[in-house]
Amino acid sequence: MALLEVRDLVVQYGQAVALDGVRLEVQPGELVTLVGPNGAGKTTLVKTLAGVLRPVRGTVQIHGRAGFVPEGRQLFSELSVEDNLLLGAWRVRSHRPPLDLVYEIFPQLRSMAHRRAGTLSGGQQQMVAVGRALMGDPQLLVVDELSLGLAPVVVKEIVQQITRIREKTNLALLLIEQNVRLAFAWCERAYVIEGGRIVAEGATKALAEQPAIYEAFLGGRGGAAQ
Ligand SMILES: Nc1ncnc2c1ncn2[C@@H]1O[C@H](COP(=O)(O)OP(=O)(O)OP(=O)(O)O)[C@@H](O)[C@H]1O
Ligand SMILES: [Mg+2]
Repeated sequence: MALLEVRDLVVQYGQAVALDGVRLEVQPGELVTLVGPNGAGKTTLVKTLAGVLRPVRGTVQIHGRAGFVPEGRQLFSELSVEDNLLLGAWRVRSHRPPLDLVYEIFPQLRSMAHRRAGTLSGGQQQMVAVGRALMGDPQLLVVDELSLGLAPVVVKEIVQQITRIREKTNLALLLIEQNVRLAFAWCERAYVIEGGRIVAEGATKALAEQPAIYEAFLGGRGGAAQ
């Protein structure tokens, strides 16, 4: 059974159609990326998966727990790092919040536990956002813009840490990423979204060889970020 199953999803902002019949699946443990130009509907899809937006038509089924790293991190800047992390565990009643696990994954956060989140660097804030998502013990991690505004070395560290978690658990990933080169190198499968529609999907290796995809995302601006 798919971990995430999206069928015929239509989402509108008033009369404006932002998602137009989106179909997407993530299997348990799978690494999937969703790429597309600005305004294509990626964040709209994430918000719909999270239940923040209600679809006009279609269905979203998540057979398990999902953790979200929202676009722009969305931390509570006045709250401490630890309180931000604990907010990610509010739905987990079955066991103690895995704070120690998150501090093991991102050791720098332990020494900053009592600092206001707003005083952290962008990279540290993204670690808090990833950590907060992991506090809910998810089977699916949805990350909206992992690398945006971060130094390559910080991105590398976060990717390594997520990879390390995946070695121990069967965590699946739905990654939205401007750096398509990075996303395609990391993920097995990709969806390409344009104007609210999925226009291509398949194995990243095969997609990268399609001239139109290469030109749009890997040869030009989209691939030049790093
Ligand atoms: N709250 C809103 N009200 C009205 N229109 C919106 C709203 N949020 C997004 N849109 C529109 O919906 C479309 C999809 O936006 P969305 O944020 O999902 O794109 P995106 O693929 O995440 O883009 P980016 O790569 O820039 O983050 C855009 O045309 C956008 O202007
Ligand atoms: Mg977006």
